[in-house]
Amino acid sequence: MSDAIPLAPMPLAARAPGKCILFGEHSVVHGGPELLLAIDLYLQVGMSGAPEFQLAGDAAAARAHPYLNEARRMYWDEAYGGVEVEPVSRIPRAAGLGSSAAFCAAVVCGLSAARGGVERSLLAERSFAVERAAQGVGSPGDTSAVVGGGYVAINAGAGAILWELTDGERSWRVRRVVDPGWLWLVAYSGVPRSTAEAVRSVNRRLQAPDGAELLAKFAEVATLGIEAVAAERREQIGPLLDENHRLLREVGVSHPRIETLIDAIRPIAEGAKVTGAGAGGSIVALLRPGHEVDALRRTRAVGGRGYIVRASPNGARLVTSGR
Ligand code: MEV
Repeated sequence: MSDAIPLAPMPLAARAPGKCILFGEHSVVHGGPELLLAIDLYLQVGMSGAPEFQLAGDAAAARAHPYLNEARRMYWDEAYGGVEVEPVSRIPRAAGLGSSAAFCAAVVCGLSAARGGVERSLLAERSFAVERAAQGVGSPGDTSAVVGGGYVAINAGAGAILWELTDGERSWRVRRVVDPGWLWLVAYSGVPRSTAEAVRSVNRRLQAPDGAELLAKFAEVATLGIEAVAAERREQIGPLLDENHRLLREVGVSHPRIETLIDAIRPIAEGAKVTGAGAGGSIVALLRPGHEVDALRRTRAVGGRGYIVRASPNGARLVTSGR
């Protein structure tokens, strides 16, 4: 397969994009549909052979890092010695923008390349396995977006199937959605959050009597959103983002700082919502065209950090081999 990660001896560098969820976070954990895009903010890791595993030169930091430890345990053989991992990232951490997924994908990409290369679908499977083992909960949405690049739909849509992943209980079919070329505002509230905690609190909320009804509403909005993006019906997106945000508020994953950000952007946005696990983290907004710079100013004025992004055409890849 031409899009495979080739064999590459260390030292090497691998990079992966961040991600942004347009529709369906949280409900995807229960098998619902979701739409994500890989965004053009990147994390890069340099990897070179070393006597032991090190993170930015620090062996204790490597031992304490849950994602690196799972990657090493699952996809490395200590007979090869250790690896010095040097990460550099433009993706804010614990912000809902895929820094953990990008780290998993870039590290697994590098380790797999050094051990002979890997098909992209297997890289997606491995990256999910590492993230899931480290977090204990979650879906393969984030890791699929950062491995696949572009727009991907989970459990919905009509595009080509990229891969199908399972945790033994649920399965997630990942499809390509053609990039409509739109710009997005993503803005970090400055409130870090834990994905695992947010997922567990939503799971508890969904056990209430209206849980099934809420999941059905999430699924309806995400399905309509996927169809609208695939058909480039931009005028439908804003109201669907707003509706998805209302549902996310209902399951308790907004935050006062998120609401402040959305209020600041609302006059110049077609629609906006919390993106990712929430309970802090970031928003995504579709702006009225021409308001990008104003959006960055408005975001900063309320203490947020804004980025204008578009889809990264590439998923995780080696930098040093030009792939
Ligand atoms: C986190 O970015 C997205 C969630 O749906 C969790 C997951 O899918 O693993 C909240």
